[in-house]
Amino acid sequence: MLDTEKSSHPAPDSFVAKAHVDAARYEQMYQASVDDPDAFWAKEGKRLDWIEPFTKVKNANFTLGEVSIKWFEDGVLNVAANCIDRHLATRADQTAIIWEPDEPTDPALHITYRELHENVCRFANVLLSQGVMRGDRVVIYMPMIPEAAYAMLACARIGAIHSIVFAGFSPDALANRINDCGAKLVVTADTAPRGGKRTALKSNTDAALLHCSDKVRCLVVKHTGDQISWIDGRDVDVKAMMKTVAPDCPPRPMGAEDPLFILYTSGSTGKPKGVVHSSGGYLAYAAMTHQLTFDYHDGDVFWCSADVGWVTGHSYIVYGPLANGATTLMFEGVPTYPDAGRFWEVCAKHGVNQFYTAPTAIRALMGQGSEWVEKHDLSSLRLLGTVGEPINPEAWEWYNETVGKGRCPIVDTWWQTETGGHMITPLPGAIPTKPGSATKPFFGVQPVLLEPNTGEVIDDTAAEGVLAIADSWPGQMRTVWGDHARFEETYFQQYPGYYFSGDGCRRDADGYYWITGRVDDVLNVSGHRMGTAEVESALVAHKAVAEAAVVGYPHDVKGQGIYAYVTLMNNETPSDELRKDLETWVRTEIGPIAKPDLIQWAPGLPKTRSGKIMRRILRKIAENDYGALGDTSTLADPSVVDDLIENRMNKG
Ligand code: WTA
Repeated sequence: MLDTEKSSHPAPDSFVAKAHVDAARYEQMYQASVDDPDAFWAKEGKRLDWIEPFTKVKNANFTLGEVSIKWFEDGVLNVAANCIDRHLATRADQTAIIWEPDEPTDPALHITYRELHENVCRFANVLLSQGVMRGDRVVIYMPMIPEAAYAMLACARIGAIHSIVFAGFSPDALANRINDCGAKLVVTADTAPRGGKRTALKSNTDAALLHCSDKVRCLVVKHTGDQISWIDGRDVDVKAMMKTVAPDCPPRPMGAEDPLFILYTSGSTGKPKGVVHSSGGYLAYAAMTHQLTFDYHDGDVFWCSADVGWVTGHSYIVYGPLANGATTLMFEGVPTYPDAGRFWEVCAKHGVNQFYTAPTAIRALMGQGSEWVEKHDLSSLRLLGTVGEPINPEAWEWYNETVGKGRCPIVDTWWQTETGGHMITPLPGAIPTKPGSATKPFFGVQPVLLEPNTGEVIDDTAAEGVLAIADSWPGQMRTVWGDHARFEETYFQQYPGYYFSGDGCRRDADGYYWITGRVDDVLNVSGHRMGTAEVESALVAHKAVAEAAVVGYPHDVKGQGIYAYVTLMNNETPSDELRKDLETWVRTEIGPIAKPDLIQWAPGLPKTRSGKIMRRILRKIAENDYGALGDTSTLADPSVVDDLIENRMNKG
């Protein structure tokens, strides 16, 4: 048994005393949620305001060929009204969004629920004026500014489906997503300041739109005032137009199952999938998990440091907090600008009570030294959270001691773009934590460990297997945009009757879950999900490259780094220049987050006689783990392996 399995951290008594859920209540509610999901979720569904109340609760089928997931299906609601309008009677003057700009010397904004209402209505009226209708897709490619949230909520208000593309993605990646979802319009900004640098979002959008239908309109938020090019008739100045349209826009009644948004995410094969989330089930689940996992109480200031371009930003900057009438903090910058104390400076400045970030950020800041934390008064913090990847015990201890001063429970939340909200996570007043474990399932979530080869359910408490979920929960994705068959194949085919997560997992004798990482060809680099296939296809699109294979390897700060084996065309010779050229190439094809950390020239790749690349071997070489190469006898040419080992990057 690992030491961390024995190291149990209960929340302080003072925390438990005020917590929404204590240990006894967790047990009782969890049992109720799996014994009678309909009754349990009928009650939780009432967290939302319904225009027409639902009479049906759960209607889900995981059978291959018939996969269908519906929650509250006959209910009618509007997501924006739930996030804004219903709070106006009691908290119109309360701050809904605190916006902290990239430059600490620039003023922060405090946007009240009343102001949020007006801004979202005006934004919605701008969308309507551009012909955006219910069910139309709107791509949002934005900096971390309030207008990104206005755009999301404006779509929700009129029943349009938004699809946010992370501002770090390249024009090509943006164009692919605009085309895949058939967007009618893109919302962007002139430029995006981050860490003192600027990303040219409008010019990226201009480049992307060259590959899209000429009917796609472009709404531009002039945020920095930087010089941009302009196409009359296509480009619209949103801020100017918001001033001219009506300040009110009635929320459109939507079915609970109408899609709220599409978010593209990487899988083990092929191009990114458009994950589709619903309106009713998603919002109820985001709201409930936000309240209970973070033990959010009225008046608290909640900060999730993710970008709205990822699901974490959707559920825990915008939808969950605002559905709960919370004050949510949105940060434009990065943790290390202007110095490595920025996160803590912002926590102190705005009196943050719950802080939620990724282990990669914690590791990076830990490396800068504790003095950056100690400079700031962190007495407002009551709870800390992590998401995106397993947290190593050293980083956990540092977060706990240096940031939380040993008095803030740490919620290590396991979930996915596909799940909409937290799945396995401590409820802080109920479940003592263990460093590195996501602990126990959230209400209604039934995790199972399966034997990877046979798919049999492992009944022993202490066990290891692949992680699957036995039944539906309201926040579950409904389909892959435009490709329901792919949805079924990806998540329901390999282990019939279950939702397969793609993660490996261990369960200890106390029934705690420990995520061990992806078991498929998905990389997790600094908490960002990436398919090896995507990076490979970017590499082979370069004229000098004949073939490429990409694997992950352990990286101290990023969790995983990207290791690329590249076979060049016959007439090409390896050089440092070419290596740099390939790095730049991948940055422009996908975005900076996909840049390979190490490129190894590989005269040959290990392949089976039928031509399949044996990634298992490449992974082992990248990990420097030559003893465990396994059986190489099925290789067409076993000598390529010796050559690859001989030339491994960063030996030692
Ligand atoms: C990984 C992010 C360990 C996991 C919300 C999952 C985690 C993938 C954790 C989803 C955690 C997420 N501990 N691993 N607490 N949270 N992961 O879709 O491999 O960007 O499958 O969603 O991140 O990444 P995604």
